[in-house]
Amino acid sequence: MIRLSVNQTEIEFAAAPDTPLLWALRDHMGLTGTKFGCGAGQCGACTVHVDGIATFSCLTPVSAVEGAEVTTIEGLSEDGSHPLQQAWIAEQVPQCGYCQSGQIMKAAELLDFNPNPTRDDIADHMSTNLCRCGTYTRIFNAVERAAKEV
Ligand code: FES
Ligand code: FES
Repeated sequence: MIRLSVNQTEIEFAAAPDTPLLWALRDHMGLTGTKFGCGAGQCGACTVHVDGIATFSCLTPVSAVEGAEVTTIEGLSEDGSHPLQQAWIAEQVPQCGYCQSGQIMKAAELLDFNPNPTRDDIADHMSTNLCRCGTYTRIFNAVERAAKEV
């Protein structure tokens, strides 16, 4: 049995220790906001926080996060009121939307550690997350907008 704490809720389920956290979230917990993109650590669609650190859930075995706190896009706020979520709406960031929960989780890590990032800080930090729709300018604008609110 694997025991995880996700979005401040304890959950126990049967899975092999090397099961990727991404599949545990999606298949065992129904937390489908976290997306499968490349499965190889190259796109960031699967980004969640593990003890506050942005982490590729596709590459992270569940056994590695037992005892840690995992936060997904569903746990970022109860009602979509996080400044980043509000900024994403205000800047109309998403196009197809597929990459966006990973983008927001990556951006949330940035603002946790650097509440006043420069444009270059944002571009550098967000470089792990790809958007095939090319929404980068709106992502950067939204992070800047959220930073003013934090
Ligand atoms: S799905 Fe995990 S980095 Fe692409
Ligand atoms: S909004 Fe389509 S991949 Fe980013």
